[in-house]
Amino acid sequence: MTASDIRPAASGTAAVGGHQFPPGFLWGAATAAYQIEGAAAEDGRTPSIWDTFSHTPGKVFEGHTGDVAADHYHRFRDDVRLMADLGLSAYRFSVSWSRVQPTGRGPAVERGLDFYRALTDELLEHGIQPAVTLYHWDLPQELEDAGGWPARDTAERFGEYARIVGEALGDRVQLWTTLNEPWCSAFLGYGSGVHAPGRTDPVAALRAAHHLNLGHGRAAEALRSVLPARAQLGITLNLHQVRALTGSPADVDAARRIDAVGNRVFTGPLLGGAYPQDLLEDTRGLTDWSFVQDGDLAAIKRHPLDVLGINYYTPTLVSDGASVDGPRSDGHGSSQFSPWPGADDVAFHQPPGERTAMGWSVDPTGLYDLLMRMNREFPDLPLLITENGAAYEDSVGADGAVHDPERVEYLRVHLEAVHRAMHDGADVRGYFLWSLMDNFEWAYGYDKRFGAVYVDYETQERIPKSSALWYAGVARTGALPD
Ligand code: NOJ
Repeated sequence: MTASDIRPAASGTAAVGGHQFPPGFLWGAATAAYQIEGAAAEDGRTPSIWDTFSHTPGKVFEGHTGDVAADHYHRFRDDVRLMADLGLSAYRFSVSWSRVQPTGRGPAVERGLDFYRALTDELLEHGIQPAVTLYHWDLPQELEDAGGWPARDTAERFGEYARIVGEALGDRVQLWTTLNEPWCSAFLGYGSGVHAPGRTDPVAALRAAHHLNLGHGRAAEALRSVLPARAQLGITLNLHQVRALTGSPADVDAARRIDAVGNRVFTGPLLGGAYPQDLLEDTRGLTDWSFVQDGDLAAIKRHPLDVLGINYYTPTLVSDGASVDGPRSDGHGSSQFSPWPGADDVAFHQPPGERTAMGWSVDPTGLYDLLMRMNREFPDLPLLITENGAAYEDSVGADGAVHDPERVEYLRVHLEAVHRAMHDGADVRGYFLWSLMDNFEWAYGYDKRFGAVYVDYETQERIPKSSALWYAGVARTGALPD
């Protein structure tokens, strides 16, 4: 495989007529280590912050943990065969830091790396392109004990870990993502506390955001020094498509505040080389940002992104003032603490329309608008949809099958939105469905099912849902059925 794997073979992106996607468009599915692997204490792995958090009473739905999850660590060969049966051309997974460097520092555990070597080899043998995410929220607990992401040293440690994984997998992986959704790591982990490590300190959350940005820079530096030149480097952001409830100046300003601390806190330094001035002003009462040291901004942007990963589920609707139905009805879990430092006086509203089992509205126009915005602001930056999908209340029918017509519809309308954005000029190189299979949905445990493949957690049986079969047809033909 070459770097051209994420470049459509068709010239430009306009070569999409009907609902046909260009040749070379990646049809993938995504997962993350803690959500599917299990084997939490095997082969030298020690606890991450999510092990600690999920084992803390009251933090996760009904005390669920990732101890066993979908047992992918032991079943990965069968799972790759399933992906091949579904015709996927790419698979996005994350590496568990605690598996390869249990304390977050020092030498690597080869047995941990061997698992990812075997997984990538298996994927390549089946013609599936591996897309590696270095960090999907599972910080080694010892690093949290030393201060976690609010501490600068964690960014340095992340650079070291990136080098280890780069050296181990660089000969076989071309598509690299440093961080998954750093907004969630910083603001749900250290702000509202609904995610591990469960801290509720707005200044710690802002420090974490900066050190995640810096960590990206350190990892990019390390990867660039060990990977072949053809490697593609990216980051995945859960960009919020923020909409103001009305056109009043106050509501429009509320949307600006959420855009600042929800999006531009990352796109600013990563793509523009600076934190947005309005964010610095909005948060002035909390911090003077002196944790940003000389040289940090240059380090964050030094190695330009080859591709930006976007995770999209639902838009965010806001107005000025406090929410009527509780301050945190923002789709990011319930907590009396805000994940939005500097934007306390913003009310979140339920957008109209149907909802998924997460309570999130189904609105593909949000994805279209987001892609067009990125295309407008960063015209030369290729985009990848690294996650999109929905949770529904799936169950096995009397016929032994899982029928999920709502998920098929969700995927169809969102893929139509991607297609329309490409037609209108957005440079989208691929789409990864979230998720390949049902898994540990963080604070919701196994209560929410996002998979295209159903997992029976009693038997670990995998049953492709009707959405998986539908998506297989899309992947096979590169087109949406009429
Ligand atoms: C984003 C996260 O990256 C993923 O881990 C999570 O399961 C999905 N969204 C659904 O909430």
